[in-house]
Amino acid sequence: MLRQINSFILSILLIGLAIVRAEENVSLTQKLTVTLPSGDRMPVIGYGTSRIRGDDKVKEALDHALSVGYRLFDTAEAYENEESIGKALKELLPKHNLTRKDIFITSKVASRPESSGANSYISLSRSLRRLDTSYVDLYLIHSPEYWSSVAANSNVNFSEIRDLTWKQLVKGQKDGLARNIGVSNYNIDHLKELLSNDYGVKPAVNQVHWNPEYHQDDLLEFCKSNNIALQAYFSLGGDKHKIALLDNQEVKKVADKLGKTPGQVVLRWAVQQNVLIIPKSLSRIHMIQNLDLNFQISEDDMKILSNLQKS
Ligand SMILES: NC(=O)c1ccc[n+]([C@@H]2O[C@H](COP(=O)([O-])OP(=O)(O)OC[C@H]3O[C@@H](n4cnc5c(N)ncnc54)[C@H](OP(=O)(O)O)[C@@H]3O)[C@@H](O)[C@H]2O)c1
Repeated sequence: MLRQINSFILSILLIGLAIVRAEENVSLTQKLTVTLPSGDRMPVIGYGTSRIRGDDKVKEALDHALSVGYRLFDTAEAYENEESIGKALKELLPKHNLTRKDIFITSKVASRPESSGANSYISLSRSLRRLDTSYVDLYLIHSPEYWSSVAANSNVNFSEIRDLTWKQLVKGQKDGLARNIGVSNYNIDHLKELLSNDYGVKPAVNQVHWNPEYHQDDLLEFCKSNNIALQAYFSLGGDKHKIALLDNQEVKKVADKLGKTPGQVVLRWAVQQNVLIIPKSLSRIHMIQNLDLNFQISEDDMKILSNLQKS
C-alpha cells in the first residue's frame, strides 16, 4: 500500500516537473521574434484564425491563445472574423494585462475586384474599423490573382491589379494605417515584378503554403536574399491534409526520436529554416505544443523531412 502511495506521489511530481519544463520552453519560444525592415519585431510563432468565426468561438479561442502566450494573430478580410476578433481583443487584452502594442495583428486585402486594386486603401480602412484598431501591424495582398471562381470569368490584367494594390498599400503604410505591408502566395516572378516597381517600399513578408510535403526552396532563398520574411500557412497540412502529414511514418519516426509530437516536428522543421509559422488550433493542448518548439532536429532528419515533398 505504502509503495503504491509513494509511486503515486512520484508520478504527480514527475508530471509537475514536465509541465514546468514545457512552460519554460514555451516562454523561451514565444519570445522569438524577427526584426522587419521597419524595425518592428514580429513573433516567429503566431496564431492562425481562418475558419474560426462567431463572437463566442473567436473569444474562447483567443482567450486560450493569449493565456498560453500567443501575441500574433493572423486574420483576413476573407475570413469574416475581423469584427469578432476586434470585440474579443477589446475584452481580452485588459484581462491578460496587455495593451494593443503588446500584440501583432496581420490582416489581408481580399483578392476580388470589389476589395483589391483601387479599392485596397478602403479595404484596409474597413479592416481597421472591424478590428476596432487604428492600425494593423501587417497588411498583406492575400493573393496575386483573384480567387479562381472570379478569375474564370474575367479578362483582368493581374499585373496591373497587383501594381495598383501595392500602390494603395504603400499609401496605407505612409498614412500609418499599416505598420508593415507584404504579400501572400507570391512566387519569385510576382516578387521580382513588385521589387522592380515597389513605390519605395519592399514587401516585409511573403506568406505561403509551406510544410514538409509542400515547399519551394528557391522561393525561400529568394526571400532571404531580399530581406523578405517567409511565413508559412498550412504548416501542419491544414484541416484537410494534416492527417496525411502528421501520420507520415518519417515524421512519426523523428517525433519518437525526439520525444515530441508529429505536429511539433513539422512546425520545428519550418522554424529551423527561419520560416515563420501561424498554426491554427482550437485545442489548448495543441496551442501549447505549437509554442513549445525549443528543440533541434538533426541535419539528417531535416533532409528526410524536406524530401517528403510531393512532386
Ligand atoms: N495566406 C493564405 O492564403 C492562407 C491560406 C490558408 C491559411 N492561412 C493562415 O494560416 C493559418 C494556418 O493554416 P490552417 O489553419 O489552414 O492550417 P494548419 O495550421 O496547418 O492546420 C490546422 C489544423 O491542424 C490541427 N492542429 C493544430 N495543432 C496541432 C498539433 N499540434 N497536432 C495535431 N494537429 C494540430 C488543428 O486542429 P485542432 O483545432 O484540433 O488543433 C487544425 O485542424 C490559418 O488559420 C490562416 O490564418 C493563410
